[in-house]
Amino acid sequence: MSKALLNNTEHFYRGDSPSLLWEMTVCQSLADPAGSYAKTLERPEPYGAKVARLLGERFGLTAGLSVMEVGGGYGTLMKEFARALSPSSITMLDISPRFLDMQREALKDLGGISFINADVLQWLAGCEKEFDLLISNENIGDFEAVDGLDAKSLLERIQKGSPFTGEPLDRAARLVGDYGLKLPEGDEPFAVNVGALEYIEKLKGRAKTIFLSEHSADIKIPPPWNGFLDYDGQKRPRRVELKDHAEYTIRFDHVEAVAEINGFKVSRITMLELLGVRADEGARFNARAECVGNEAAETAHEFLNHVKEYECLVLQR
Ligand SMILES: C[S@@+](CC[C@H](N)C(=O)[O-])C[C@H]1O[C@@H](n2cnc3c(N)ncnc32)[C@H](O)[C@@H]1O
Repeated sequence: MSKALLNNTEHFYRGDSPSLLWEMTVCQSLADPAGSYAKTLERPEPYGAKVARLLGERFGLTAGLSVMEVGGGYGTLMKEFARALSPSSITMLDISPRFLDMQREALKDLGGISFINADVLQWLAGCEKEFDLLISNENIGDFEAVDGLDAKSLLERIQKGSPFTGEPLDRAARLVGDYGLKLPEGDEPFAVNVGALEYIEKLKGRAKTIFLSEHSADIKIPPPWNGFLDYDGQKRPRRVELKDHAEYTIRFDHVEAVAEINGFKVSRITMLELLGVRADEGARFNARAECVGNEAAETAHEFLNHVKEYECLVLQR
């Protein structure tokens, strides 16, 4: 039996102590480049600067772009991104008025920014504009997931064919059938990230380049980090309970398939690579040692074992 789970996105995650890390985004934990999390990086710098560097150096983006950020949280990413890559226009869209207020405050020195309070999934239906760049950092896991699915009912529903309704099973069946999405092995019920996949469909024609990041259900940790960090998401989106909402890890191979069929060239980049996480002896020790009675080492341990699960996608048309 399938069950739709609509995650509550009106939440806060505050604080900078190690015990609160799971409530913080990667971006927020690196807000202070002199902070303890940034010490795990080869080159400590804010997350927004890292994103700008990646998009500039590897994907050829330059100053003067029209940029939209969806779900910008505290505005931390955009503040540093704009400093590094000087967009010609910035639009911040968020479902949460409280977060939008924080973004207004964080970005007040930049001026000329448009702020939109909307659910992006609804807003895109009426949008005809194409931005040069759209950034959606750590929010596709907030979008609706259909959980408790089983392959038999899904395949039966696909065989019955359209019309597909807005019912959870139908939404998952349409996506799995249309895009030939692979299902996990074994008999255990599983979840499909329907909201994230429908979002990718809706982004077609809305941005030339898209940057996304989220907690992955199917990451492969590359060298040199695979020598001391490991993670197997088992290709099963996992429900992550946070303080006052839940989110789902993302099956990136599904997002990749939907993006490709919708005409995007897809690049998958691990967060370890984007951040330039250290892989020296100290990092290796900290990654393995759980409790050494040293706060800095424990903070590093927690951060390394958190960021290893994150992936970024750059989509270009
Ligand atoms: C986990 S936070 C990430 C914040 C920020 N991007 C970061 O990385 O620190 C999710 C953000 O997405 C916003 N959000 C969630 N669902 C949304 C939706 N359907 N439409 C627009 N914004 C949404 C939340 O209000 C919040 O700002």
